[in-house]
Amino acid sequence: MRLLGIETSCDETAAAIVDGSISPDGTPRGQILSNIVLSQKDHEAFGGVVPEIAARAHVMAIDSVILAAMKDADCEFSDLDALAVSSGPGLVGGLIVGLMAAKSIALAHDLPFLGINHLEGHALTARLSDQLAYPYLLLLVSGGHSQILLVSGLGQYHRLGSTIDDALGEAFDKTAKLLGLGYPGGPAVERAALTGDPDRFNFPMPLRGKMPPNFSFSGLKTAVRQQAQALLQECSLSDQGVADICASFQKTVAAIIEDRLIRAFELATSRSDVQQILQGRSLPLVVAGGVAANKVLRTHLAGLADRLGTMLVAPPLNLCGDNGAMIAWAGLERFSAGEAHDFDLAPRARWPLDMNAQTMIGHGKAGPKV
Ligand code: KG4
Ligand code: ZN
Repeated sequence: MRLLGIETSCDETAAAIVDGSISPDGTPRGQILSNIVLSQKDHEAFGGVVPEIAARAHVMAIDSVILAAMKDADCEFSDLDALAVSSGPGLVGGLIVGLMAAKSIALAHDLPFLGINHLEGHALTARLSDQLAYPYLLLLVSGGHSQILLVSGLGQYHRLGSTIDDALGEAFDKTAKLLGLGYPGGPAVERAALTGDPDRFNFPMPLRGKMPPNFSFSGLKTAVRQQAQALLQECSLSDQGVADICASFQKTVAAIIEDRLIRAFELATSRSDVQQILQGRSLPLVVAGGVAANKVLRTHLAGLADRLGTMLVAPPLNLCGDNGAMIAWAGLERFSAGEAHDFDLAPRARWPLDMNAQTMIGHGKAGPKV
């Protein structure tokens, strides 16, 4: 099967062509034929995504991004089996742009189309990149979300933990903003941390050791601000001071995540349904979302997986942030399961993966905003 995937839920205008199938024994096989991602630069001056600017920028870029993805894959619309598009959660103005483009192409070329949960795109990326079988334990960390989910099958998500305030990507972005490092903050903090001392500052680790394994990152952000202000007052907020704060911040984030994941892993592996499917195999650990590109975090997670006696699946860096390939792949899984949508499908600002979990702020909200 060959699908075009379109992504416009936040500040990336993206399109990709993916070929693949789910074999009768359930093995996922996917190949990315093209993957075009245009990251909007228009938000840098504001230190966060401005929804109206994002929507307008998607309108300007969507046609050329889709055509570039088709050209890169040497593909005609008649070669496609279906179209998949992010239809939520996210910024509604951007989602409408992607949905209208997908519906127009589907109507003009008589193709089935599917509205895909953007979070499901992140959640299933490891199946596209590493042919990973269900079930697995997923750490989903992006600009709008921080969750730990047990993924047992297509559409089978059990949320074990979630942020109760800020998303992790948001904490990176806000830390970068208050240190004057620019937007998006994650890569900027990671870069600054390279020359920093991770042991110089001790930042708080809220909820550490507590069950359920939720996250809280707003206190960490406040502690970073207080530390930066203290250094400013001593006139020592030098480049080295900023680097030390970034390195200490990243070290704290890694320690918080490790603590939460150890508990989530215990919860997941003690379930009899999981044990039954695994039949003695270990439960893989997967990381996804924009923050999964962070190398310090990836290194910590690899060490943690080792200690838990399991493997870490971390998708390549170009599949961590928002992209069309993950949407095409999730579409391929859904289309293989016999799904398609009608043209009256509407965008959804909120759309949690685990519909039964208690609503929390990081549970399925829109992308990062100013
Ligand atoms: O998944 P994504 O592209 O968009 C959302 O769905 O939110 O994630 C974007 C987030 C931003 O907050 C960005 O700062 C963060 O991912 N990010 C990183 C890194 N690269 C992107 N955070 C930490 N380290 C990175 N290298
Ligand atoms: Zn995302």
